[in-house]
Amino acid sequence: MRIIHSSKEMQNAALELRRAGRRIGFVPTMGYLHEGHLSLVRLAQQHADVVVLSLFVNPTQFGPQEDFSKYPRDFARDEALCRDARVDILFNPTPEDMYPEGHSTFVEENALSRGLCGASRPGHFRGVAIVVAKLFNIVLPDVAVFGEKDAQQLRVIRRMTRDLGFGVRIIPGPTLREPDGLAMSSRNKYLGPEERIQALVLKRSLDKAVALYGTGERRAEVLHTAMVAMLKSAPLARIDYVEIVDDETLERVTVIERPALVALAVFIGKTRLIDNVVLRQPT
Ligand code: PAJ
Repeated sequence: MRIIHSSKEMQNAALELRRAGRRIGFVPTMGYLHEGHLSLVRLAQQHADVVVLSLFVNPTQFGPQEDFSKYPRDFARDEALCRDARVDILFNPTPEDMYPEGHSTFVEENALSRGLCGASRPGHFRGVAIVVAKLFNIVLPDVAVFGEKDAQQLRVIRRMTRDLGFGVRIIPGPTLREPDGLAMSSRNKYLGPEERIQALVLKRSLDKAVALYGTGERRAEVLHTAMVAMLKSAPLARIDYVEIVDDETLERVTVIERPALVALAVFIGKTRLIDNVVLRQPT
């Protein structure tokens, strides 16, 4: 596995691979890798000859009161996991390389980014979009894989890719979960033992929505009320949002007639966790 820290060197390597006719698969991450990230590597390997995983804790997507400085970091562990997963290139740029003195350009997606996490984390998707756009220009991937765990991010990146004409195919990867249902996340590390137990309430409230939908219930309000009640049964849980939105426009729906994204963000103690499920008519 090759480890590259400079964006110029990464871009040259990518140009060389492309000249040799190799397909580049790309998995952008902020590190502290878990099985969810590694499942995206395996997916990228199915669609490409060479897989690049980037590891960069991107400061511009964190708000001033958020966890940028304490976001978990363990390069040695991540490096070993990448080797085991047969990642070809681990790209780990420095902040100065990604954001040189005087950096003043951003990418704004102005429809899908508005609600959900965009509403509670102002500027978050602007930071995600600039870093992903820049990484695309450096890594020059044919395909890039993004997890469905970050449902809104996946949709924003797809839209950005289309709107800016990046020649990159975006491939979604399913959410990997712990055996008890908790969605894998680097932030799960923050949870104390009691919080870890109560964090299961996110998945349980999504299951509640799925079950109601399965019985034929189509009123978003009914699903919403049941989910909120479930979340309130966990004393350490504080709801940031629970939303039922159209899967394509991410606009709130009252009656579910087309595929709907049920998304939530919940603080368990100080840790903000997200999860989601898509409700769609069985075919
Ligand atoms: P990070 O949170 O490290 O996630 C990297 C990728 O892993 C994202 O595409 C995310 O959706 C995916 N992922 C996270 N948890 C997952 C799980 N349990 N199952 C499957 N996939 C999962 O998302 C980011 O980093 C950043 O915003 C980034 C895109 C790298 C831009 O900085």
